[in-house]
Amino acid sequence: MDAQIERVREILRGTTSIAVLTGAGVSAESGIATFRDPDGLWAKFSPRELASMDGFLANPERVREWYAYRKNVATTAQPNAGHIALAALEQQTTGSFSLITQNVDRLHQRAGSRNVLEVHGNLIENRCNDCETIRTDDVLICPDCSGAMRPNVVWFGEELPQDVFAAAEQAAMTCDVMIVAGTSAEVYPAAGLPYTTKRYGGIVVEVNPNRTELSSEAHYVLTGTSAHILPHLVGDVQ
Ligand code: OAD
Repeated sequence: MDAQIERVREILRGTTSIAVLTGAGVSAESGIATFRDPDGLWAKFSPRELASMDGFLANPERVREWYAYRKNVATTAQPNAGHIALAALEQQTTGSFSLITQNVDRLHQRAGSRNVLEVHGNLIENRCNDCETIRTDDVLICPDCSGAMRPNVVWFGEELPQDVFAAAEQAAMTCDVMIVAGTSAEVYPAAGLPYTTKRYGGIVVEVNPNRTELSSEAHYVLTGTSAHILPHLVGDVQ
């Protein structure tokens, strides 16, 4: 096994406080497109039209249709070896473990992860634009206040869910090790979390087949896909 992977595996075994930050790359091997890779969603679709309040107000049907399509992709996909390894790592960790995800596909939960902080929402729920009621059915108008229902996903220009992000920041501050897997580390505030960990004295481990904004700052850069690398960090994979 690669010496760096072996070293990180030892570090993880010796620690009781782990945070993980994941992005779209972790679901790539489940067949879900990332955003900023050459074949990613933002190469084919306009974030202004599909991931902003202005886009929703201009054409709610088009936006709802796109999220229904993505929800269908996510619910028919299966968790891959990377998701499963992170669920196993949570089981193995005796102290605190937080999985902070920018992903909206729910594959971490389906793989068995428990303490998942969805900082960008999810594709499964809808939320009322006015009263913020959350529902899992597909009604278009909120039965409580008649507001417009929208996907419960954070759009450009919007705040992250405050309590969830506060918990993510707390995990970033207090963990001994943060694993950052499958994210371009370009979208803030989530991309700032590994820097918080580093500032508070924690070790930052990046898992990604490509270099990112974070690579030069991470203590360990494990080059490869998450479904390949993450299983090596847990259990007995040689
Ligand atoms: P990006 O598409 O920006 O980045 C995906 C990252 O995954 C890249 O760094 C790839 O190199 C890496 N990658 C590709 N295949 C991989 C694999 N098999 N294993 C591991 N890594 C792989 O996706 P995010 O960083 O998640 O926001 O993007 C952040 C946010 O931007 C998303 O949450 C979304 C988007 O706009 C919202 O929807 C609010």
